[in-house]
Amino acid sequence: MIDISTTLGPLRLRNPTMLASGIMDEDAGSMQRMIDCGAGAIVTKSIGIKSREGYANPTVIELDHGILNAMGLPNPGIEQYGEEIKKLKRTKVPIIGSIYAADADEFASLAKKMQRFGANAVELNVSCPHAKHYGLEVGCDPDLLHDIIKKVKGPVSLPVLVKVSPNIMNIVEIAQTIEKAGADGIVAINTVKAMAIDLQTARPLLANKTGGYSGKAIKPIGVRCVYDIAQAVDIPIIGVGGITTGEDAIEYFMAGASAVQIGSAVYYRGPEVFTVVCQEIKTWMKNHGYRTLNELIGASFQ
Ligand SMILES: Cc1cc2nc3c(=O)[nH]c(=O)nc-3n(C[C@H](O)[C@H](O)[C@H](O)COP(=O)(O)O)c2cc1C
Repeated sequence: MIDISTTLGPLRLRNPTMLASGIMDEDAGSMQRMIDCGAGAIVTKSIGIKSREGYANPTVIELDHGILNAMGLPNPGIEQYGEEIKKLKRTKVPIIGSIYAADADEFASLAKKMQRFGANAVELNVSCPHAKHYGLEVGCDPDLLHDIIKKVKGPVSLPVLVKVSPNIMNIVEIAQTIEKAGADGIVAINTVKAMAIDLQTARPLLANKTGGYSGKAIKPIGVRCVYDIAQAVDIPIIGVGGITTGEDAIEYFMAGASAVQIGSAVYYRGPEVFTVVCQEIKTWMKNHGYRTLNELIGASFQ
C-alpha cells in the first residue's frame, strides 16, 4: 500500500497536490471543482482589502514553453470573497487563503478575516512580479517581511505560509527570516519576471509590458530554490513551478518539498491533473520501491 498523504505542520493533506493561487479559484464553484478533481488542498486567488480591477488585456499569453501573465491581482476584495470561502466550510480539504497587502497592519487585518471566514491557513503573497507596491518590494526586504509575519502571527491562530519569489538574490536569507519570524511553511516559487515582444508591431505582447512566466520552463528554477531553502530551514516547504507530471512532483520532493502546488498544468492537462499526477506519483513510487512520501522528501541531500 502506497501512502501519499502528507503534513504541513498542523495541516493534514490527503495527497500532496495543491491548487496554486490564481488558477481556477475565482469562486466557490471553481474551487469545489478542483477538490472534486482530486486536489489535496486549495489556495485561493490572492485577495486584498479592497476590490481591484487588474490590468487591461492582454493579460495572459501562451508562449512556446510556458505561460506569461500580468493579471494585476484582480479580485473582489476580502469582504465579498469571504462569502466564497464560507461556502467551502464543510469541505474536508484544507482551504488556504492567499492575501496580498502593502504593509504589516493590512496583512494582519486580511489574515484575521480569512480566519473568520473559515480558511484553514493563510498564504502571504509577497512575491508577485508585476503588482507595484504589493509584491517583490515586500518580499525581498527581510526587516519588513519579519515585521509582517510577526504582526500576522499575533492575532491569528492559523498556520501561516509565505510565498517567495525566484526574482531575488537573497532567497536563502529571506527563507531564514521567514522561519525566524515564526511562519509555518514556505511556498516556492511565484512566477519568474519575464517579457515577450510581438515582432510585427514591435510592441510588448502584454499590456503591462512585463509579467510572470510559469509552466514547464520554470521547473528547474523552482527545484533549485526549494533545494537551497531546504538546506537552510526546518519548516515545511511547498514546491511550485512547472509541475505537470508525477515525475515533476517527485523531483520537487527529492529537492526537499513536502507538498506541491499545480497552476499552469491545470490549463495543459485539465482539472483532472490532480488525480492523474497522484496516480503517476504512486506508480513511480511502486516501481522504485518507495512506500511513503517521507522516504522521498529531501532524498537528493547528501
Ligand atoms: C494566470 C495566473 C495567475 C496567477 N495569480 C496568482 C495570484 O493571484 N497569487 C499568487 O501568489 N500567485 C499567482 N500565480 C502564480 C502561481 O500560483 C504559481 O506560483 C506559478 O504560476 C508557478 O506555478 P505553475 O508553473 O504550476 O503555474 C498566478 C499564475 C498564473 C499563471
